[in-house]
Amino acid sequence: GLPERVTVYEVGPRDGLQNEKAIVPVEVKAEFIDRLAAAGHTVIETTSFVHPAWVPQLADSGELLERLVREPGVRYPVLVPNERGLQRALDGGVEEIAVFASATETFAGRNLNRGLESQFEMFEPVIARALEHGLRVRAYVSMVFGDPWEGPTPIEQVVRVGRRLLDLGCFELSLGDTIGVGTPGHATALIEAFGSPERLAVHFHDTYGQALANTMAALKAGVTVVDASTGGIGGCPFAGSATGNLATEDLVWMLNGLGIETGLNLDELVATSVWLAERLGRPSPSRVVQALSQK
Ligand code: HMG
Ligand code: MG
Repeated sequence: GLPERVTVYEVGPRDGLQNEKAIVPVEVKAEFIDRLAAAGHTVIETTSFVHPAWVPQLADSGELLERLVREPGVRYPVLVPNERGLQRALDGGVEEIAVFASATETFAGRNLNRGLESQFEMFEPVIARALEHGLRVRAYVSMVFGDPWEGPTPIEQVVRVGRRLLDLGCFELSLGDTIGVGTPGHATALIEAFGSPERLAVHFHDTYGQALANTMAALKAGVTVVDASTGGIGGCPFAGSATGNLATEDLVWMLNGLGIETGLNLDELVATSVWLAERLGRPSPSRVVQALSQK
């Protein structure tokens, strides 16, 4: 059966804005996050503490955290790759971080300047120290279905990397289809290969238009945490074929239709997408945003 309730893990301010050509002013980012919380989000991935030269779009993460008005009951996780990033996040008063691993050798090199094995030398001390400080640590594994350089990713390889992250103490593992090549049968097989859906989340990019179908497969397999981004913005600067994420509004339209609770106000989400699209200077790629903002 399907879950009664789903947690939508909003990645727009991070995955979305990391991939914008123009750098979005910090005050726009802060207002964006405020609007997301007002629309009912309980978890908003806020920014990244990565190397500022690698992702200049999010180089203002320290300043953004200073401006952030933290609402009670809302989590504001940030991406952290290494100990330098963790220190910056701790200095900013962060309570939850996300580390991000690769399921493939090539993407580990391109995204992290590390290998499939040596990425763990970077994450292990970060996770240990974050846990010592009482932080919650989420983990991503990217390229779970395929990689632009290596083709399809073997399921066992994804499970190996993912289990290792969970065993290090991460409370949740988000399965990242970075380039959107997954299809529902593959999603079901991957989730089943983990043995239990309990600590899994899904993170589908919509490059091939499969994100909603894959989400439905994940819900049927027992997953209750779904990553999505406002208006379907997003991508990865280190994988050219990565386009936008599953749009939050498309997800919420489907979940509303299924009678699954999210606590989100769709009208406010659409209004926020339209507001953001004006600031980004182009329309939202989300079909639901287009439909609902035209009437
Ligand atoms: P590196 O060059 O190997 O770093 O980069 P290093 O450890 O050799 O350090 C070199 C210098 O950088 C040092 O300075 C460090 O202090 C500094 P120096 O001593 O030479 O003066 N440095 C830093 N400064 C500030 N903040 C830091 C930091 N780290 C090092 N955190 C590194 C390795 C991981 C840092 C780099 O590769 C990086 O920043 N990568 C980030 C890539 C990224 O953000 N990608 C997008 C997010 S992942 C994604 O989108 C996928 C996801 O959505 C899921 C999916 O879709 O599948 C999550
Ligand atoms: Mg992503």
